[in-house]
Amino acid sequence: MYDKFNRKINYLRVSVTDRCNLRCVYCMPAEGVELMHHNDILRFEEIVEVVEYAVTQGVDKIRITGGEPLVKKGIIDLIRMIGKIEGIKDFGMTTNGIFLDKYAQQLADAGLHRVNISLDTMNPEKYHRITRLGDINQVFKGIEAAKKAGLTPIKINCVVKKSFDEPDAKDVAEFCKKHSLQIRYINEMNLETGSFAVVNGGTGGNCSICNRLRLTANGDIMPCLFSDLRFNVRELGIKKAFEFAIGEKPKSGHVAKKSQFYSIGG
Ligand code: 5AD
Ligand code: SF4
Repeated sequence: MYDKFNRKINYLRVSVTDRCNLRCVYCMPAEGVELMHHNDILRFEEIVEVVEYAVTQGVDKIRITGGEPLVKKGIIDLIRMIGKIEGIKDFGMTTNGIFLDKYAQQLADAGLHRVNISLDTMNPEKYHRITRLGDINQVFKGIEAAKKAGLTPIKINCVVKKSFDEPDAKDVAEFCKKHSLQIRYINEMNLETGSFAVVNGGTGGNCSICNRLRLTANGDIMPCLFSDLRFNVRELGIKKAFEFAIGEKPKSGHVAKKSQFYSIGG
């Protein structure tokens, strides 16, 4: 698939739930959020259908996101279903890592290739402050389990306020070096103001080479994180939803008032 700015679209991020077991300060309010209605959430068969269609259109990179994908009931079954689709070269998941200790091996067995794990600090108290609920030792256990299961290369998503020179980010970088993990710095973003900047690594934030579409848990195809455009696969049918999303993908994004990270998976 090519959009009208001749960008090749080969990457689909699939959010399977808007729920999360953490409440990171930059992502969710402490009391949680109003969740999607159960009836609006795509069933696994529908998600698989969307991914299958995307693959026929040239998508070869799939990333499962949330909320937190590992809180989704039956997630291993979904991974197995998507894992069977031919033509996916890169099949990853972004997770906060809390449940990885439990699921890493099952995920690998079901066909997942690799994981990205969120970790913004090495300090247990600070980790708990940022995530409001998390135990950093669970993340460390999760990282070990992911390594053991071969869900590699493992990338660590480290949200920074301004730069990768910050003490917390430096500590995380050192940890990554020691444990053969790749670090990706992510600037804390504010979707309402559209303020974001590229720190390093990845293609995020560089609109001219953006290759991605997003599927939300309730079936919206979103062409851009920094735009409110969404096209629902149930309302429009899968083919039309993709055609509109590709056709309307903005040259560059600006402000997204209705979007939140927990519902679109970053
Ligand atoms: N700014 C930047 N990244 C965010 N994430 C969630 N909220 C934000 C935000 N406001 C990202 C984090 C996390 C991933 C799941 O979503 O990088 O690792
Ligand atoms: Fe959950 Fe990720 Fe949001 Fe943190 S950033 S609350 S782990 S979805």
